[in-house]
Amino acid sequence: MSDIIQLLPDAIANQIAAGEVVQRPASVVKELLENAIDAGGTLINLVVRDAGKGLIQVIDNGKGMSATDARMCFERHATSKIRRTEDIYDIHTLGFRGEALASIAAVAQVDLTS
Ligand SMILES: Nc1ncnc2c1ncn2[C@@H]1O[C@H](COP(=O)(O)OP(=O)(O)OP(=O)(O)O)[C@@H](O)[C@H]1O
Ligand SMILES: [Mg+2]
Repeated sequence: MSDIIQLLPDAIANQIAAGEVVQRPASVVKELLENAIDAGGTLINLVVRDAGKGLIQVIDNGKGMSATDARMCFERHATSKIRRTEDIYDIHTLGFRGEALASIAAVAQVDLTS
């Protein structure tokens, strides 16, 4: 029997995985607001255009990101919120999977400014 199984390219795998995080534009709003809160933001500005299909913009006054982190955050499983297995049993943040921004970036045009 011939072999038919191939590994998917990363870009396609990321788009498929994104479906778990981004069901609709509201999912993106939820993830970005959670990130703003996790970053310690006390003032969070949300702009939504065309029900989120045209623009979803979140601006927060949280701790911000270094230049390297601003690139790293779009990698899958890249997070500052857990480091080892035990941390999963002691979560104090709304997110911890390191998947939201990678998923959003797989299915949307994203601009990040820090
Ligand atoms: N608004 C923000 N301010 C500062 N850092 C942020 C902000 N949003 C994201 N980050 C950083 O980027 C990392 C990746 O964000 P992302 O939402 O992809 O994952 P997460 O929040 O760690 O987990 P989850 O996938 O469960 O949301 C975060 O762990 C955090 O360090
Ligand atoms: Mg998050």
